[in-house]
Amino acid sequence: MNKILLQQCQSIIDPTLPPISNISNLLAVIFYTYDINWVGIYDYTDKHSSLTLGPFQGKVACTRIPYGHGVVGTCAKEKHVLCVDDVHTFTGHIACDSNTNSELVIPLIHDDQLLGVLDLDSLHLSYFSKEIQSTMERVAVYFTDELSRCKHV
Ligand code: SME
Repeated sequence: MNKILLQQCQSIIDPTLPPISNISNLLAVIFYTYDINWVGIYDYTDKHSSLTLGPFQGKVACTRIPYGHGVVGTCAKEKHVLCVDDVHTFTGHIACDSNTNSELVIPLIHDDQLLGVLDLDSLHLSYFSKEIQSTMERVAVYFTDELSRCKHV
């Protein structure tokens, strides 16, 4: 567990700010902590049966991912963490950046409802260790709280 990162995330959140401000800063902390080329949120609203691009750090990305498609849509459908060591072996993987080699996607669930997913990409194969995964699962709670604030205003 990366305790320093968790402390940074905790201290960066200001409940008096709009959720988008907190989400943006959380993403920046993550982006500059790990050797990743992309980190961001895909938002889920079941009206459209797809996930749409939210705040992120990294290159321009796919804006709409159908529920059940790609690593992101599969994570949304199965509602559990997907850690893919080599994205080229994942059937249906959506390559926003063809240089990406591994990916970690965490569902953001509040009151049994999927609000979105947290997506991280790395240029390295098998980058996302169990340690990174468990740290990100803890950080995901902050994103879930902020997303839930977004959706209940
Ligand atoms: N690779 C993802 C698409 C999102 S990008 O990685 C930012 C997927 O297969 O769903």
